[in-house]
Amino acid sequence: MTVRLGIVGGGVIGHRHARSMKEVAEAELVAVADPAPSGQGLANEMAVPLYQSTAEMLAAENLDGVIVSTPTEYHAPPTLEALDAGVHVLVEKPIMPTLEQAEATVAKSEEKGLNVLVGHHRRYYPLVLKARDIVQSGELGDLVAVSGIWSARKNKSYYDQDWRKKWEAGPVLTNLIHEMDYLRFICGELESLSAEVSHKVWNFEKEDAAAMVLKFTNGAIGTFVVSDQATSPWAWEFSTGETPAFPKTGQNCIRFIGTKAALDFPNLTLWHHDGQTPDWNHAMMAEEMQHNMINAYADQIAHFCAVIQGKEEPRITARDATATLRATLAVFDAAKTGQRIML
Ligand SMILES: NC(=O)c1ccc[n+]([C@@H]2O[C@H](COP(=O)([O-])OP(=O)(O)OC[C@H]3O[C@@H](n4cnc5c(N)ncnc54)[C@H](O)[C@@H]3O)[C@@H](O)[C@H]2O)c1
Repeated sequence: MTVRLGIVGGGVIGHRHARSMKEVAEAELVAVADPAPSGQGLANEMAVPLYQSTAEMLAAENLDGVIVSTPTEYHAPPTLEALDAGVHVLVEKPIMPTLEQAEATVAKSEEKGLNVLVGHHRRYYPLVLKARDIVQSGELGDLVAVSGIWSARKNKSYYDQDWRKKWEAGPVLTNLIHEMDYLRFICGELESLSAEVSHKVWNFEKEDAAAMVLKFTNGAIGTFVVSDQATSPWAWEFSTGETPAFPKTGQNCIRFIGTKAALDFPNLTLWHHDGQTPDWNHAMMAEEMQHNMINAYADQIAHFCAVIQGKEEPRITARDATATLRATLAVFDAAKTGQRIML
């Protein structure tokens, strides 16, 4: 039996979900809900009915799950309506724009006994799983620190849509949230965060850049810079070539450093002393770890179907994604107050 899915929000990522769904045998796209022309385009391309609202789609179709890919500020209504209708949800990241909405979503999903998965799709890449194994197995020794960057200059037309000028669409909530999620996934829980944000380039509500200092509960510390207005080859999408819109540079953008070895990420180059005493007097060798790029969006949908069918436990729950959101939103509080925020 296939799993009957609807998509709410047929924009950029809605298209990617729909096209990825074709690679998943268990998944059947049944309908699209979107009041704008982009939704009509997607419904036509997929040859499925288009509805003007989530409520209309839920009333007319017998769905098992809904993928919510509306702008971040509109994640809550379709997610809660789907749960009220007894339908599982995969909502795009960030789970919600505010902690209050995220916590209401956790409460509703638990009350209804339904799953809310969150689109932190990078957790599905073998290279992310491998990095997690390397860090958590102690191959680096004791993890001492992490240093990372995500920086790209987004094109001017990206900001033609007004929602992308708002604070919910800045690089912190749109891009850094992915990095925060896989830093938590790879290194463990965050304990505290301090930050600065800047609006140096555009005079939009959203920030242009943020810099932060992190501390993990295992004692490791880290620094991270994010910007959507600074030209650079150092961002996950450039590194991996995941998205055709970001031409691949193949550059690493994160370094995990431990007492015995270091890991360049995402290319997975392991730097170590080849069995010699790990100190600065001994030569280091670089070991390239092999990994395949996959379509993580397709794997994410396959997993969503398996969770709906009761075959797998969710890899990322609403509660887990709320912890990622809490850490990410702390950037704004830390910058505003000048205080270190305990998480
Ligand atoms: N996981 C990822 O890699 C990834 C990548 C891009 C975007 N995203 C996330 O996906 C979400 C959407 O981003 P996008 O770039 O696709 O935006 P977009 O503007 O391209 O598309 C959003 C679509 O939602 C529709 N919409 C708006 N309100 C709606 C409503 N109430 N009901 C139904 N449809 C509605 C719009 O008409 C539009 O077609 C954001 O939360 C963003 O953070 C995730």
